[in-house]
Amino acid sequence: MLQGKKIVLGVTGGIAVYKAVDLVSRLRKQGAEVRVVMTEHAQEFVTPLTFKEISGNQVAVSMWTSNQEFNVEHISLANWADAFVVAPATANILAKMACGLADDLLSTTLLAAQAPIIVCPAMNTGMYENAITQENIAKLMQHGVTVMPPAVGHLACGTTGAGRLPEPEEIVHFINGFFAQCTGDMRGLRVLVTAAGTREPIDPVRFVGNRSSGKMGYAVAQQAAERGAEVLLVTGPSALPIPANVKAIKVETTKEMLDACLEAFGSMDVVIKAAAVADYRPRDVADQKIKKKTDDALTVVMDKNPDILKELGSRKEKQILVGFAAETQNLLANAKEKIIKKNLDMIVANDVTAAGAGFNTDTNIVKFLYPDGKLRSLEQMPKTEVANLLLDAVMEMRQQKM
Ligand code: CTP
Repeated sequence: MLQGKKIVLGVTGGIAVYKAVDLVSRLRKQGAEVRVVMTEHAQEFVTPLTFKEISGNQVAVSMWTSNQEFNVEHISLANWADAFVVAPATANILAKMACGLADDLLSTTLLAAQAPIIVCPAMNTGMYENAITQENIAKLMQHGVTVMPPAVGHLACGTTGAGRLPEPEEIVHFINGFFAQCTGDMRGLRVLVTAAGTREPIDPVRFVGNRSSGKMGYAVAQQAAERGAEVLLVTGPSALPIPANVKAIKVETTKEMLDACLEAFGSMDVVIKAAAVADYRPRDVADQKIKKKTDDALTVVMDKNPDILKELGSRKEKQILVGFAAETQNLLANAKEKIIKKNLDMIVANDVTAAGAGFNTDTNIVKFLYPDGKLRSLEQMPKTEVANLLLDAVMEMRQQKM
């Protein structure tokens, strides 16, 4: 998405300026051309020389210096850019933007900007939550500025709360998603992805679970978002971060996943069910930790859980419905049966016992199987690539249906 894109990065004076250096490097690695504009205060934290070296371009710092690369620099930069990103964006620059103030090179350039603006607020929690800052942010959004919400965590001032600049990698994902929503092949589509395993409690400290890490489903959600889709990820417990530009609902049990999926299903265009769902749940969940008894065996009676995918299949209208089949034997026969039983448009079948496939690996070896018996076998590849080929297949099916 960023290949050949021209980005003006506005850097304002917050402690997170050091992250903006890494951000420039990452944007360039993805093929973007970056020109940096620094405020006077930002230069107290990092010198323009650092940004010059890392961006490969002169850094603009003042309206009044004579060694400018462009004539009437703020206007030239404003016209040159495909997008403006302000990171970190202090409460001060947000306030100036909201009031239309133009008292230095960055604020003047932003006022003259023709291209979209993304701001990444970063400041102390009190400043961020201050009603005036929130009003300024709301006003900027009303005027079409895109705001990347700050992360919550430990802040340089010693407090913990909202106001941390997200990691440069996340900002790059966000910018990618932003461009994808303008140009990606999945823009305008609403995609529901489920991921990771569900857990069924036995008592307050134990549960029945499975080995799913969520890597496959998270890769699908991330790639769909990067291709411009509006993605809702319904996820069981996972150690993975929620991908940028993805809305997530965190669930634990199969019943919770079912409820979240049923509520969203009607408004979805595509549903991809990569979650490893617990088929059974303990009939009785103990209020207190079950204590060791003198018997050698413990019997836990399990009741059958609803089949979420089958339920969605029975309600399917316009949606493309894709399931996964994790098998240890009779891969194709079992997968074929699931396609029919669950009314799917496609199933992604994988033998979870094969090396380089299945749970907690970064690669997968899958087969795409369709209701008419058509089969496409993919070689071993990273889960991100599997995700993209899967989304290509979804887009083909949508075209055929239209
Ligand atoms: N699935 C579901 N709800 C369930 C079980 C499975 O939605 N209660 C979905 C999974 O997310 C996956 C597909 O159905 O997309 C197949 O899951 P899998 O565990 O392979 O098959 P099951 O239908 O559970 O059958 P079995 O466990 O007998 O193989």
